[in-house]
Amino acid sequence: MPARPMKLGLNIVANGAHAAGWRMPGARTDAAMDIRFWQEMARAAERARFHFMFWADGIAVRHSARDDDELSYNARIDVFEPLTVIGALSAVTEHLGFVASASTTYNEPYHIARKFASLDYVTRGRVGWNVVTSWSEQEAFNFGRDAHMEHGLRYRRAEEFVDVVFGLWDSWEDDAFIRDKASGRYFDPAKLHTLNHRGEVFAVKGPLNVARPLQGYPVIAQAGSSGPGQDLGGRIADLIYTAQKSRDDAIAFYASVKRQGEVAGRAPGAMLVMPGVLPIMGRTRQEAQDRFAQLQALVHPALGLPTLRDTYGDLSHLPPDGPLPSPLEGSNALKSAHQSIVRLGNQPGMTIRKLYQIMAGASGHNISVGTPADIADVMQDWFENGGCDGWNILVPFLPEPAYEIFDWLVPELQRRGLVATEYAGDGTLRGSLGLARPAFRSRGRR
Ligand SMILES: Cc1cc2nc3c(=O)[nH]c(=O)nc-3n(C[C@H](O)[C@H](O)[C@H](O)COP(=O)(O)O)c2cc1C
Repeated sequence: MPARPMKLGLNIVANGAHAAGWRMPGARTDAAMDIRFWQEMARAAERARFHFMFWADGIAVRHSARDDDELSYNARIDVFEPLTVIGALSAVTEHLGFVASASTTYNEPYHIARKFASLDYVTRGRVGWNVVTSWSEQEAFNFGRDAHMEHGLRYRRAEEFVDVVFGLWDSWEDDAFIRDKASGRYFDPAKLHTLNHRGEVFAVKGPLNVARPLQGYPVIAQAGSSGPGQDLGGRIADLIYTAQKSRDDAIAFYASVKRQGEVAGRAPGAMLVMPGVLPIMGRTRQEAQDRFAQLQALVHPALGLPTLRDTYGDLSHLPPDGPLPSPLEGSNALKSAHQSIVRLGNQPGMTIRKLYQIMAGASGHNISVGTPADIADVMQDWFENGGCDGWNILVPFLPEPAYEIFDWLVPELQRRGLVATEYAGDGTLRGSLGLARPAFRSRGRR
């Protein structure tokens, strides 16, 4: 077992992480709603010793298309609700962890605390919560709002939301349920800590009607890269997800996150930074380049242009092979993504088409094109030079590239001694990631 094994997550995007991937020859076009397919993927990811599958989510059909006609080119429409699918996937696996996104903006903390606590038991300690504030405006429209909550307010709500959830998970001490037949007492009342929370946004009495989660708290992931995003992540997250385009940006981000954690009094090893990577592989470099070119050429303008709309406005009247106009001011959706799109847009020789092909390709994540050894070189380089603790690997389309990741890339990483060949720990996701189980902390008020 390597001293510091690289952590591996499989970042699931239904129908493939490359937005045009589903159009590739041999690609499944109906993977999104096929539970048997995902069960097979989960078993294969477990055989490859992935630490977890990550299911991103939003509570809407999320898009920036102008109208239904433009939207009809988007293949990220019909997707499973992650907690539901994770229940089914955990039943056919033993070690693989499952991280699901759930929004603090369009949920109530009691719902989230209860669902993740239940799922922690259903998976036998293998679940994680990716705390998101939701980036898409469409979610607002499904929850009685005319507009998305402002970015700063979303994070203020998120801060209180997670405190309430943690408090609810600590409703009961680990050994509160004595279930004593002789005396007739089911739990020890001294070990019940009713939350009685009254804050700026939430009033939640508690206690939770689920025992303290098996992992203490499910693994907590966070992906906000803005100032408030990093503050929240630094305070609470075990896993930090991020989209980093370059090695230098990744190293700077890594240092900043670890500093943030230190300010919040956390050990550097308590937070694992896991950027995304979208490998486009071939047995030879030429094969990989050809596959990449084929994928990029399949990005229809109706699919590509909306990916730039939040940053540049409507570009459909401009020549696609011409330069980009000035960007719009800021963005209420994804502040960090806005900045990184603008940085790419400013690169010499960048055109509207090239930029939307990049964005449709990996939603801002690092695209790595080459042989398994080439991809492993990049992963190793960032990992060994302060850029990451592991990787969230995106699969461009399904299923072939997923099997190539399991059968070519992972063995290459194993040969280099970078990843483990067996699961470590006590069978929980915290255990396999080497993360401590949070001690019980009473937050209850009488
Ligand atoms: C790898 C990764 C996965 C994400 N998954 C989700 C998700 O599933 N749902 C969601 O609403 N936002 C998701 N986000 C968006 C983040 O939660 C966050 O809103 C975004 O990074 C912008 O953060 P910022 O506003 O702090 O810059 C994800 C971001 C990254 C980098």
